[in-house]
Amino acid sequence: MPNLDDIRATLKKHGQEHLLATWDALDPEGRERLLDDLARIDFAWVEARRKDLKAGAAGPGGEIFPAPVVELPKTDADRQQFAKAKAVGEDALRQGKAAAFLVAGGQGTRLGFNGPKGAFPVGPVSGRTLFQWHAEQILARSIRYRSVIPWYIMTSRENDADTKAFFDQNDYFGLARENVVFFQQDMVPCLDLDGKMLLADVDRVAMNPNGHGGSLFGLRTSGALDDMRRRGIEYISYFQVDNPLVTICDPVFLGLHILAGSEMSSKVLMKAAPDERIGVACLQDGKPTVVEYIDMDETSQNAVGPDGRLTFWAGSIAIHIINVPFVERVAGSESLPWHQSRKKVPYFDGARVVKPKTENAVKFETFVFDALPFADAFLNLEVSREHEFAPVKNATGVDSAESSRQLLTRYFAEWLVQAGIPVPFPDNLPSAATGPFLEISPLYALDAEELAGKVKPGGFAVERSLMLG
Ligand code: UD1
Repeated sequence: MPNLDDIRATLKKHGQEHLLATWDALDPEGRERLLDDLARIDFAWVEARRKDLKAGAAGPGGEIFPAPVVELPKTDADRQQFAKAKAVGEDALRQGKAAAFLVAGGQGTRLGFNGPKGAFPVGPVSGRTLFQWHAEQILARSIRYRSVIPWYIMTSRENDADTKAFFDQNDYFGLARENVVFFQQDMVPCLDLDGKMLLADVDRVAMNPNGHGGSLFGLRTSGALDDMRRRGIEYISYFQVDNPLVTICDPVFLGLHILAGSEMSSKVLMKAAPDERIGVACLQDGKPTVVEYIDMDETSQNAVGPDGRLTFWAGSIAIHIINVPFVERVAGSESLPWHQSRKKVPYFDGARVVKPKTENAVKFETFVFDALPFADAFLNLEVSREHEFAPVKNATGVDSAESSRQLLTRYFAEWLVQAGIPVPFPDNLPSAATGPFLEISPLYALDAEELAGKVKPGGFAVERSLMLG
């Protein structure tokens, strides 16, 4: 157990000795828990964040310009280039050079779901969970390319045990256990508006996961990068937990990334509206970057070019291909900026846990896209919203479970129509409450071409909800 006197001295030095105010009243387990939390905290980091807090949020940096983007193919030449890229990506997959990497350490507060967000049921017909969608896609792609696609999953202290238990209960969704590697990201303390740390409970320090930027460092410190090296992995297919339409280890994206000699590539799509809550791919000081929606001023958000299109149209959907040596370099010798966000953080006031009604603390996080400026070469690839983005972020409305089920249904309707199966609602979204809904497991068909090879044109018609696989 860490030494109490040392910790007391450190806390005093940094003006945080109030964290031991409850010490005398704690039982031995409580004391152990509190000391354990305190021993993990880097007080030099806390000092630096206190200074940041006094200085206010970091400025917007230099002037921003729209980033170059490889747009959706329009000509035969574009289509040939994409076909060539697909062959290159498929080759890398056959050779087992790509891994899947899911960041799932977030707190998922907006959705209000009790449990890891990946356990949220999203299958429009079956109620298949987000984890199962992702797992089945990885399994189907490994089968298609007769190779192992190892899956690295970043969790955090708050959801690690529940996430692993969920995989256990579901027998890893058919994946081999040795090819699913979990690791936990680090936690960092949040600070109240005066720069003081808070107790989350009588014997716990208030902390939050260190942001998905922590994934690059977590890959290194957990040994996951060494594991990748051992397996001959060169490319990491990075994705978030909330989007069932993500194409994991997309061969076209991978191939374009390889052909461009890119170190970190991003998928982007046309923003639905100037104020859509997604980050935008930009250039700043000549370097690639993503400017978060809250950080982009209104003039830039609304700027329109001569073609009538938004100047900053390229919304990032947080899907990347990242090279293993690039992660090694960034995690080994760079640091990412700490973003601040004000939150309502429950705290122990000496007698009980208070749930504040107004924002009382600042949470610090790093973002993975802040690694982009370190890349010697990068690529932004435009994709179609209908095919690649149906996130579950909110309980209702935009980007909710309901909208995701509707979007999945419309997407699968398109596949069926292409395969010659009549669907009465291909262009419209079904009713969010009653459907009809469509669902195709990745294990039944990974894409429209595979589906077309499995069903007979006109063989049946879709009249009500349908699930294949
Ligand atoms: C994110 C992006 C935004 C992008 C949008 C697309 C940020 C800051 N913004 O917004 O640019 O347009 O997705 O859907 O990310 N996570 C961790 N550990 C953490 C924090 C988050 O693993 O400490 C994971 C979450 O589990 C989730 C993902 O990162 O899988 C995204 O986090 P979230 O907070 O939901 O980001 P958004 O605000 O939706």
